[in-house]
Amino acid sequence: MSKPVRAKISALGTYLPPRVLTNSDLEKMVDTSNEWILERVGIRERHIADKGVAASDMAVLAVQNLLESHPFDLQEVDLIIVGTVTPDMMYPSTACLVQHKLGIKNTWGFDVSAGCSGFVYALNTGVKFVESGQYKKVLVIGADKNSAMTDYTDRAVCIIFGDGAGAVLLEPSEDGAGVIDHVAQIEGAGGKFLYMPGGGSLNPASHETVNQKMHYIHQDGQQVFKYAVKKMAEMTERVLEKNNLSGKDVDCFIAHQANKRIITATADRLGMPLEKVVINIDRFGNTTAGTIPIAMQTALEEKKLKKGDLLLIAAVGAGFTSGASLIRWAF
Ligand code: COA
Repeated sequence: MSKPVRAKISALGTYLPPRVLTNSDLEKMVDTSNEWILERVGIRERHIADKGVAASDMAVLAVQNLLESHPFDLQEVDLIIVGTVTPDMMYPSTACLVQHKLGIKNTWGFDVSAGCSGFVYALNTGVKFVESGQYKKVLVIGADKNSAMTDYTDRAVCIIFGDGAGAVLLEPSEDGAGVIDHVAQIEGAGGKFLYMPGGGSLNPASHETVNQKMHYIHQDGQQVFKYAVKKMAEMTERVLEKNNLSGKDVDCFIAHQANKRIITATADRLGMPLEKVVINIDRFGNTTAGTIPIAMQTALEEKKLKKGDLLLIAAVGAGFTSGASLIRWAF
C-alpha cells in the first residue's frame, strides 16, 4: 500500500492593520485601566482596521504577504477556505470575495464559521482535501475584523478584541512534515455565552435590533474563561495521548490568543516551559480566526519554531467549538 499523503504548511503570510488602539486609548473610552487589562487579560494594544476595510481585504493582504516569502502562481490554487465570523456580508462567502480580489480563476472555496477555532477548523478541513490526493494547493485563511462587531462602550468586551488575518498554503508533503493529527469538538449548549444575535434569520436587522445592540459581540466572560481553560487543556491532552506523546515532546505550543491566563494555565497543565509557548496577545489582542497564523509568524520571528519542530496548536471559541492539531513544521 502506498504511504498516505500528508499535508504540510509550506508558506505563511499575515496582515495586521496599521492603526493601533492602546490600553490608554481605551481608558479614555470606558471605565478601565491599563493595569486591569494587563493583569486580567495580558493585552497592551491591538490593531484596528479602518472603516471600509473588510475581512476579505485583510485576507487578501495576508495572501499577498505569503506570496512575498513564497512566490508561486496563484492560478494553481485548487481551494480557498476562510475561517471567519466577521464576513464582509452574510453572502457571498468571504472565500468568493477573496477569490475574486486575487483573480484566481479555476478554484472553489467556502467559509468556516467556528468562532475562535475558525483557523483550526479551516486548516483541518483543508488538510483532508490534500491528504485525499485530490488537491495540491489549498489556501487556508483566518481573518476577522472584530472591531466591526464590538461595542466600544462595553468594557468587558472592547478591551479584548483586535483585527487581523493570516494565511497558510497547504501542499502535499514529501518528507513527512505536515499536519499529523487533530481532534475537534462542538458543544452547542455553550452558544448562549458568546454570540452575536442580530442580523441573522432569527433577528433580522431592524431599528429594534440596533437599539438593543444585537449586532455586537455578547459575552459572559467568566463562563467563556472557565470553559476555555478546561477545554484547551482537554483538547491538547487528547491529541497528544492519541499520538502517544506528552507535553515534553512538543517543541512549540500555539494557543488561540484570548487571554494570557488561559494560555499559561494550559502550558502549566502540559508541563511545558514558557520558552516553548508563543504569546503575542499583548501586541495584537484576540483576532479570533487570525490569532493562530499570526502567532505562527511570531513563533518564526522569535525562533521558537523551526523546520522539523513538533508544533501543537489549540483553540476554543464561540459555539462552543474547540480543536487541537499536531504539526511537524515544514520550513
Ligand atoms: N476594566 C475594569 N474592570 C472590568 C473590566 C475592564 N475592562 N471588565 C470587567 N471589569 C470588572 C467587572 O465589571 C467586575 O466588576 P464587579 O466585580 O464590580 O462586578 C470585575 O471586573 C470582575 O469581572 P469578571 O467578569 O469576573 O472579570 P474577569 O477576571 O473574569 O475578566 C474577562 C473578564 C472578560 C477579561 C475574562 O472573563 C475573560 O478573558 N474571559 C474570556 C473571554 C474570551 O476569551 N473571549 C473570547 C472567546 S475565545
